[in-house]
Amino acid sequence: MTQDGLKQAVAQAAVDYIQPKLELESIVGVGTGSTANYFIDRLALIKHLFDGAVASSEATAERLKSHGLPVYDLNSIDGVSVYVDGADETDRQLCLIKGGGAALTREKIVAACADEFICIVDESKRVDVLGQFPLPVEVIPMARSHVARELVKLGGDPEYRMGVVTDNGHEILDVHNLSIIDPVDLEAKINQIAGVVTNGLFAARRADVLLLGTSTGVEKRVL
Ligand code: 5RP
Repeated sequence: MTQDGLKQAVAQAAVDYIQPKLELESIVGVGTGSTANYFIDRLALIKHLFDGAVASSEATAERLKSHGLPVYDLNSIDGVSVYVDGADETDRQLCLIKGGGAALTREKIVAACADEFICIVDESKRVDVLGQFPLPVEVIPMARSHVARELVKLGGDPEYRMGVVTDNGHEILDVHNLSIIDPVDLEAKINQIAGVVTNGLFAARRADVLLLGTSTGVEKRVL
């Protein structure tokens, strides 16, 4: 099966997984990216089973609305029942690298609010050690050079993602050549650099469930 086919399979598996848990007052958190888009298209078919959604980006909000799904401001609701999102890399402990689509900050906020975080990826995203995919770091624009120098001290090789402005008005540094042995520690260290908004390591709040699309079917891993 193609990578696109695997993404569609895990998107459907996520709908099948959450459907029995949904109640009429449930709010579904929705991630960003091509896998999340497939999920949105399938979620729309069961929109009568839950209250509405919270979006992790402007693009996701637009796609949800185009299907007639109510999109809530996170400040207007009490919590998120379940959050479904893709990732750029996952290890066996369900720690993730995210932010390839520059939506990492809102994704991390929605994940933090969610009772359950379901990550949906094709098998190309699975690694033994995180860091082959450059780690995205969202920065306040005036701090970009300072943050880059601090990231070099941590052993990385930061590259400015030219021309990209996040939904929050910030910039992205992609950090190459990291071998992330302790994701929880590195996530905290990078977040302590002045000028960092957040980084794309999802380790302190990692996925609870991983749905992995493989050539032999969708595998489920639970934390
Ligand atoms: C966006 C993300 C995405 O989840 C990640 O980039 C995966 O994208 P795709 O599903 O298109 O492969 O973190 O910020």
